[in-house]
Amino acid sequence: MRNKTILIIGAGNMGISFISSLVKNKFSNKKIIVLESNPSKDVLNLKKRKKIVLIENEEELNNVALPDLVLLAVKPNQVDNLFSLNLAKFIKRSVIVSIIAGKKTSTLRKLSNQNLNVVRSMTNTPISVSMGSSVVYFDKKTSPKAKKLSKQFLSLVGQVVEVNKESQIDTFTAIFGSGPAYVYFFIETLSKIASKNGFKQSDEMIIHLFLGSILLMIDKGEHPAILREKVTSKGGTTDAAIRSLISSDKFYKILNRAINEARDRSKKLN
Ligand SMILES: NC(=O)c1ccc[n+]([C@@H]2O[C@H](COP(=O)([O-])OP(=O)(O)OC[C@H]3O[C@@H](n4cnc5c(N)ncnc54)[C@H](OP(=O)(O)O)[C@@H]3O)[C@@H](O)[C@H]2O)c1
Repeated sequence: MRNKTILIIGAGNMGISFISSLVKNKFSNKKIIVLESNPSKDVLNLKKRKKIVLIENEEELNNVALPDLVLLAVKPNQVDNLFSLNLAKFIKRSVIVSIIAGKKTSTLRKLSNQNLNVVRSMTNTPISVSMGSSVVYFDKKTSPKAKKLSKQFLSLVGQVVEVNKESQIDTFTAIFGSGPAYVYFFIETLSKIASKNGFKQSDEMIIHLFLGSILLMIDKGEHPAILREKVTSKGGTTDAAIRSLISSDKFYKILNRAINEARDRSKKLN
C-alpha cells in the first residue's frame, strides 16, 4: 500500500484525519498529494515539514504524480463543481473513494466523467484517532483491484465493512456516522444529572466512567449484557434503574426512533 500515490481532495475535518494516518503510516511525502483550496494551519504545517505535497488549485496537477487512489472529502454541495475536464482526465485511471454524505455512486460516476472505479463509503469522526468505523459499497462495475485498494486505504483509519446494497449506507450513517454524537449526548446528559446532584467536575468523572467501562469490557472479552448482569443484583439499585430503562422497551424505542429519523434524513439527502 505504501508504494501507492494518494490524492486527497479537501483537507478539512475529515480529510486531515486521512492525511495524518498516511503520514503516521510512513508514506513518503511525494505519495501524499493534497488538493485544498483553503489550507488550514495544520495542513500548511505538514507542507512546511515536507510531509505532504500541497497544491491549492488544479492547474498545479501537472507538477504531481498520477494518483492510484483519490479521496473525495469535500462538502456535498461542493462536489457538483469539483470535476473539471482537466481533473477528470488526470484521475481517469485512479480509484475514487468518496466519503461525501448522500452522493450516490451513479451521481459520482456521472460527475467524474464515467470513471468506473468510483467507490462509495461512509465513515465517522473517530478516524482521527484511527478508531473509525467505515462501510464501503461497490457496484457491479468496480474492479477487484479497486475493491482491494479502497478497503486497504480505509483500514488505515479503523474498521471497514462492505455492504451489498447502497441503501445500507443510510442505515450506517444513522447508527455509526452520527453515533459519536449519541455517545457525547449520553455523556452530556449523565453529566448534567451528576452536577445537578452536587458532583463537581462531573464531566471528567463521566468520561472515566465510559472509558473504564469500555476498557473493562475489552479486558474481560465478555458481551455487554453479561457485564451488565454482573453489576445488577436482584432488587438492588442498578436493578431499579435498568428496570426503568427496559420497561415497555422505553430506552430501545427512544433510540430506535432517533436512528430512524437520522436514516430518513440521510435518504432525503440522496
Ligand atoms: N463530519 C463528519 O462526521 C463526517 C462523517 C463522514 C463523512 N463526512 C463527509 O466528509 C466530507 C467532508 O466533510 P468535512 O467536515 O471534512 O468538510 P470541510 O471541513 O468543509 O472540508 C472540506 C474542505 O475541502 C475544501 N474544498 C472544497 N472544494 C474544493 C476544491 N474544489 N478543491 C480543493 N479543495 C476544496 C474546502 O475548502 P473551503 O473551506 O474553501 O470550502 C474545505 O477546506 C463531507 O462530504 C461529509 O459529508 C463527514
